[in-house]
Amino acid sequence: MNLYDLILSRRTIRQFKNDPVARDTLEQLVNAARLAPSAANLQPLEFVVVDKEEVRRQLFPCLKWAGYIAPEGNPKRGQEPVAYIIVMVNLQVREKDYEHDAGAAVENMILAAWEKGIGSCWIKSVDRVKVSEILKIPGKYEVDSVLALGYPAENPRVEEMKDSPKYWKDEEGRLHVPKKKLNNIIHYNSF
Ligand SMILES: Cc1cc2nc3c(=O)[nH]c(=O)nc-3n(C[C@H](O)[C@H](O)[C@H](O)COP(=O)(O)O)c2cc1C
Repeated sequence: MNLYDLILSRRTIRQFKNDPVARDTLEQLVNAARLAPSAANLQPLEFVVVDKEEVRRQLFPCLKWAGYIAPEGNPKRGQEPVAYIIVMVNLQVREKDYEHDAGAAVENMILAAWEKGIGSCWIKSVDRVKVSEILKIPGKYEVDSVLALGYPAENPRVEEMKDSPKYWKDEEGRLHVPKKKLNNIIHYNSF
């Protein structure tokens, strides 16, 4: 699939198969994040890769899923992520305004994963204190977000957005995600 089609086909995945994601693949994702654009090229981000079952089990309760439809959007038992990449900011390198760096790095990882058939959910609703404790993250680092990963066990559908941004699940449990129409957000040469 070319990059444009890949971008169009990507949806957030919150139900995962129990197949492992190879360590080499996870390393490739972090490498994709490493080479993302960075303001002033300061590169304040570092990453913790979690693939060990015991650590995954501890991390899972620190994350909140699909706020609009909670708890229905939570990964079902046996469909939890098989890996996580924790995105951290070194506050000694950059104290604030690192969010764009984090966004670019995470999107690189999301798309690099999707290209390999691996789904992901970018999570900002994170209990940062607990995650830092579990992973022994030093105080000079802040946890920005967590990328949950695994092979998809769901197939969400994009919908034309009418009056609400809220995604929903249908009777079969399929997730529908409304997006604004292109015509409603594009402006040429002036507003
Ligand atoms: C900055 C950011 C934070 C997000 N945080 C969460 C989160 O904490 N939990 C969650 O389940 N999804 C989270 N998401 C995923 C969004 O809910 C999802 O992107 C949105 O519903 C649109 O769906 P799509 O990614 O399939 O286009 C986050 C997305 C972004 C960009």
